[in-house]
Amino acid sequence: NKINLKDYQPPSFNVDTVDLDIKLFEDYAQVDSTLKMVRQTAGDLVLFGEDIELLHIAMNGEGLAPEDYQQDAGKLTIADAPDTVILELSVKICPQTNTALEGLYIAGSGSETMFVTQCEPEGFRKITFYPDRPDVLAIFTTRIEADKRYPTLLGNGNLVEQGDVTDAPDRHYAIWHDPTNKPSYLFACVVADLDVLTDYHTTSEGRKVTLELYAKSADIDKCHVGMQALKDSMVWDEVNYGRAYDLDRYMIVAVSQFNMGAMENKGLNIFNTACVLSSPETTTDSRSFNVKAVIAHEYFHNWTGNRITCRDWFQLCLKEGFTVFRDQSFSADQQSSAVQRIDDVATLRAYQFAEDAGPLAHPVRPESFVEINNFYTTTVYEKGAEIVRMLANTLGAENFRKGTDEYFRRYDGQAVTVEDFLSALSITDSKIEKFIDWYRQPGTPVVSGHQHYDEKMQNLTITLSQQTRHVAGFDAPKPLPIPVATALFNRESGNIIAAQMLLLDQASQTFSFDNVTSEPIVSLLRDFSAPVQLNYDYQDEDLAFLLTHETNGFNRWQVTQMLVNRILLSTNDANSKPDVYLQALAETLPKLAHNDAMLAARLLDIPSPQELASAIHKEYDPVLIKQQREDLYKQVADSLKEQWTILYQQLPLQAYSDSPEALGARALRNIVLDMALTAEVAEATNWAQQQYDNASCMTERFGALKAMVNHQVAGYEGYLADFYQRFQADDLVIDLWFSVQASADHVSTDTIKSLLAHADFDWNTPNRVRSVISAFTSQPTVLWTPKGLDIYTGVIKKLDDSNPLIASRLLQVLARWYTLVEPRRQMAHEQLLDLQQHVSSKHVLESLDTVLGAA
Ligand code: ARG
Ligand code: ZN
Repeated sequence: NKINLKDYQPPSFNVDTVDLDIKLFEDYAQVDSTLKMVRQTAGDLVLFGEDIELLHIAMNGEGLAPEDYQQDAGKLTIADAPDTVILELSVKICPQTNTALEGLYIAGSGSETMFVTQCEPEGFRKITFYPDRPDVLAIFTTRIEADKRYPTLLGNGNLVEQGDVTDAPDRHYAIWHDPTNKPSYLFACVVADLDVLTDYHTTSEGRKVTLELYAKSADIDKCHVGMQALKDSMVWDEVNYGRAYDLDRYMIVAVSQFNMGAMENKGLNIFNTACVLSSPETTTDSRSFNVKAVIAHEYFHNWTGNRITCRDWFQLCLKEGFTVFRDQSFSADQQSSAVQRIDDVATLRAYQFAEDAGPLAHPVRPESFVEINNFYTTTVYEKGAEIVRMLANTLGAENFRKGTDEYFRRYDGQAVTVEDFLSALSITDSKIEKFIDWYRQPGTPVVSGHQHYDEKMQNLTITLSQQTRHVAGFDAPKPLPIPVATALFNRESGNIIAAQMLLLDQASQTFSFDNVTSEPIVSLLRDFSAPVQLNYDYQDEDLAFLLTHETNGFNRWQVTQMLVNRILLSTNDANSKPDVYLQALAETLPKLAHNDAMLAARLLDIPSPQELASAIHKEYDPVLIKQQREDLYKQVADSLKEQWTILYQQLPLQAYSDSPEALGARALRNIVLDMALTAEVAEATNWAQQQYDNASCMTERFGALKAMVNHQVAGYEGYLADFYQRFQADDLVIDLWFSVQASADHVSTDTIKSLLAHADFDWNTPNRVRSVISAFTSQPTVLWTPKGLDIYTGVIKKLDDSNPLIASRLLQVLARWYTLVEPRRQMAHEQLLDLQQHVSSKHVLESLDTVLGAA
């Protein structure tokens, strides 16, 4: 049941048009369809279908009997079909009991009940039998019929007709027609009772587009941020890529039960409420920023994903890597580009590097899978985006734009591959094609290096070498083309004397610089020019030098992170002490806090315990790491103790504003508050309480609450209760309430248990499950205990049947169990073996197989 990239076959039949008629009833739905199909190549006519009951099938006007076709393992096969076929099908499905949230499913309850779809990657086959693969493109017309209790009936494209159902006074219908050819994974429909926020955008081509954001009436006021982001995204894509929107209507629907962030269905995006709703009173700044990024991401898919789509699911990174790169670039234009890069690199290092370091490591373009849902990973998305970034940087802005223009010109309306993408981008520069190995090879390359200065010759050489671990099941790794952005700094003046992009494309290479009058300090991998680990023979003092002299905020953050990692992980032989780091912070912070509070806040980052763990390959002791991390945090807090008082006073609470300065001040103030509590500044408890009581927005209120909970400030339980009372009616805020407890520094397994048993806990709402169980993974000392793992694997067992996609994603977090120190390792192994006896979904079984293979 493994599917391999090398076995790809084009479909025997294409579909010209599909007519769907979806009739929704109290406890089931009937779906009638008519497919006009035309033969492309020899072979059987194959349709996919899962969890559906076939009521009737006819071909070219004649009903088929069971002996006329074969039905097994999710496939319906007709042998010897004529070259042109009109298929008529009638099926029955049950959205009301669909807890997997794939296909057509029910969300919400009571008067807020709604029906929505999620078809990517293979959900359409749960709606009707269809050649459900991304390289089959068709024109869809959809009739939706339901009870008038659901006034909102939405489909892809343009609304062509609506009205009452004859003979059924309680029912009505709407007919939607989508004029663009699309694969079935982009199909969507919605049946609900929603309010709508409407706006307009006129495209650069003069098309007036109606923009609609649908949400339940209590949430409609939280749609303005998303609407503005949508308008900004539409302009941005016109300006930066020459891409305008192509329909008269763009709809977004907010849904409270959704497996992922959002979905780019043609003209009808469906969003997790957490990724579209935002208001200052209820949404933290970072979540609000994420809302804008996801809106942009889904909008950008209209060109990179929808108009040009993937030939097969192995090519997922073709649309996701490129689209993430595009949304990151959009976000970098909305805020400080340095801070944006810090956020993106921090995420990559924390999650993608960990994935690449474990048994679930896979190439950005995988070569085989059992369950494609298991490959919607940070490797495909974030490392995929880093590859596109390397291509863009290698080409330079002008040639990159020529390349993307060529890509859109050549492949519009087609389903293509990563090779096609590279071939279009390489019209100005053939070395682009060499980057294909980045898509094929798993593992994070490690770049090591040293320098040699020859005073007499006034020459500096930098020798760099690359190494990638050999991941089981793949070919021996080859050297990759690695762009290494480099600058030489004069030690005395602190100025840059040379800057160059080095291309390391062999196992080892030496780069030479002439006319260098004194030994410089070399800054490497500036702006994180490639997704690699860097080991350079720096002295701690060199890094401290770069922390003060580097010219952009990202590079300053990067060297700070190198210093912190050296202290915490002793990755260099010198066994770094915190002194140099503490002194550099003391010198940098006061000035920076004044000029760029957001960057100042980021410079205080200390990698999370999970990120630190990903760099440890054996005998990982969670208690030791937690201790070392806390010790360093305490040292920072203590050594800058006076600063916290000064800074907190310089950052008074103000009326809410969303200016960059206000955002920076709030981010820094929350960190300063936590530092002050850590350093036991006498007034800090007061500050926290006042910040909570007088907060102008959720960033302030939640920052104070989190600090009080983590430091167990006297009376914190009362604040938790107050928070619950205030926001009881708002699911997304109550998610915060769950997560602040589940991720607390002092959390116990009893707390987790009682959160899971809380009246507001809901197993069928992925956001709520994540708010407890994913939050819990931030405390490895509790997670990796018999009781902790018992709870965690218990959740996986429970979700294995009802929502296997979520169950499998939760499991993936345990991938590096084998690096644990004994007896934890043995204990974890036993728990995973036990889990294997209790699960049956192919999602969880595939992940578990790989994860246990690391033993
Ligand atoms: N294409 C969507 C996005 O990146 C993600 C959909 C993933 N859904 C899933 N069931 N795996 O925006
Ligand atoms: Zn996407």
